[in-house]
Amino acid sequence: MVKIPLANAYKFLAPRPIVLITTVDKQGRINAAPMSWVTPVESEPPIIAFSTSYDSDTYHNIMETREFVINLVPAEIRKQMWICGKSFPRGVNELERAGLGWEPSEQVKPPRVRECPVNFECKFEWMYEGPEYVVIAGRVLVTHARKDAVKQGLLNVEAVKPLLHLSGRNFVIGDHRAGL
Ligand SMILES: Cc1cc2nc3c(=O)[nH]c(=O)nc-3n(C[C@H](O)[C@H](O)[C@H](O)COP(=O)(O)O)c2cc1C
Repeated sequence: MVKIPLANAYKFLAPRPIVLITTVDKQGRINAAPMSWVTPVESEPPIIAFSTSYDSDTYHNIMETREFVINLVPAEIRKQMWICGKSFPRGVNELERAGLGWEPSEQVKPPRVRECPVNFECKFEWMYEGPEYVVIAGRVLVTHARKDAVKQGLLNVEAVKPLLHLSGRNFVIGDHRAGL
């Protein structure tokens, strides 16, 4: 065994699925941000939580409008996902900047990302305010998956190739390390 520096410990809870979280502000302007500190916390009713910093537009938009959509990122859009992670001023639609498409959700105002094969439409449920990060939990109102993304009732990983995160620009596709 080797000891891992504590600041790097989270990097070993990996690989983690990457999602794009879409939100809108009060004026309805779209925002999209990649996140990988994401986890289900309850199944009935379904609750999913993620951790984000207080200065993210995602946090501010959810405080304003109390809705978000979690979109699963397939490996083929990793370059576009990376663009969405750059720091743009509030109000800029990262999906547009990255060349990704979007379409209306069924039950919430933030849109779904067209290129993402699975999405979870969520309503703010609760949050835990840590010193630097805030954990935001949402109740899943509805989940849609592309037909080919479902195999025997589970995620069709061969078809979707979900992009997994190690840390920074280091990803996993299948069982291989990958860059952008
Ligand atoms: C693959 C990937 C995963 C990320 N995961 C998180 C995360 O879980 N929480 C977080 O606060 N930021 C995370 N980030 C950084 C945010 O995406 C980045 O700060 C972004 O600019 C925030 O966007 P926003 O201000 O539009 O909300 C991640 C970035 C990448 C590229």
